[in-house]
Amino acid sequence: MAKKQKVKKSVKRGMILIIILVLLSILGIKFYNEYLYKQTYEYKLLEINYSIDESKILIDNLNDKELNNILGLVYNSNISKLVTEKYFIFSNLERYLDFINKDDSKNLTKIVAMVNVNRDREYYEDTKKASLEDYELMLVNKYNYLEEDYEPKAITTIPSTYAYEGNKINEEVLVAFRNLAEEAKIAGHTILINSSYRDYNSQKEVWESRKSLYGTRQADAYAARAGYSEHQTGYAIDVADFYDINDKFGETESFLWMKENCYSFGFILRYPEDKEKITGYSYEPWHYRYVGKEVAEKIKNLEITFDEYYAYFIANI
Ligand code: DAL
Ligand code: ZN
Repeated sequence: MAKKQKVKKSVKRGMILIIILVLLSILGIKFYNEYLYKQTYEYKLLEINYSIDESKILIDNLNDKELNNILGLVYNSNISKLVTEKYFIFSNLERYLDFINKDDSKNLTKIVAMVNVNRDREYYEDTKKASLEDYELMLVNKYNYLEEDYEPKAITTIPSTYAYEGNKINEEVLVAFRNLAEEAKIAGHTILINSSYRDYNSQKEVWESRKSLYGTRQADAYAARAGYSEHQTGYAIDVADFYDINDKFGETESFLWMKENCYSFGFILRYPEDKEKITGYSYEPWHYRYVGKEVAEKIKNLEITFDEYYAYFIANI
């Protein structure tokens, strides 16, 4: 009888021990899970005031390095909206946030586009030497310049069938333009190059003569200052319709043809209408830039300017 009671007692003790162990394990798992959750970006983002939805957006759109960077900034409700913008570039984040305060529209798509092309800075401020290794994709604009003695590669004289006298251009561009002009001719259009490669000093003359005629503001709207023109790259052309007596290329049938077809030959309309704030230049229906077929098609399909394309697809690597 005493033996039976002893067995009963130890079974009871064993059970209690098991229950204690189970409880401890449950508690342990709970603390461990809590510990693990505290290591997550979601927890850390909630800690600095982001909502669950905002933190999900941030986690879905950013990598570890970028998320850690966000954790070092004070909460800002615009961040989770900015990261979903198509052309968002993380390294520009603080500039977007600053620019939102300066831009009345508060349109984030516009703000991202503007900052990506440096429009949160004054023209000719913080300028950089253009990246020459990009060749036909080199960006020359009001923030990226070529030096006075820059010698573009493979510059050749354009035969008089395709250009007014004295015009020179990059060899590859000439081949592309020849194909374009021949195809345009078949469609009934005679398109000629008016102006093409311009060295530093010729560009200086172009800008200064405009300035003396119309003043600095107007000169800056249509002509680049010396060193800041893509005509100096050898990859830009101004065209005209041979039969256009009004000298208004934008109003000709040839222009409509160019607008539709230039991309298939590797050219883009460089300063489109309504993009003045992005390109820094007024609408120039006559100015085309050679970027190669692949990029030209991409730019046409995305409906963006070369400045925007360069910022997102070339510089942002
Ligand atoms: N007309 C363009 C902007 C240039 O001068 O380069
Ligand atoms: Zn031009």
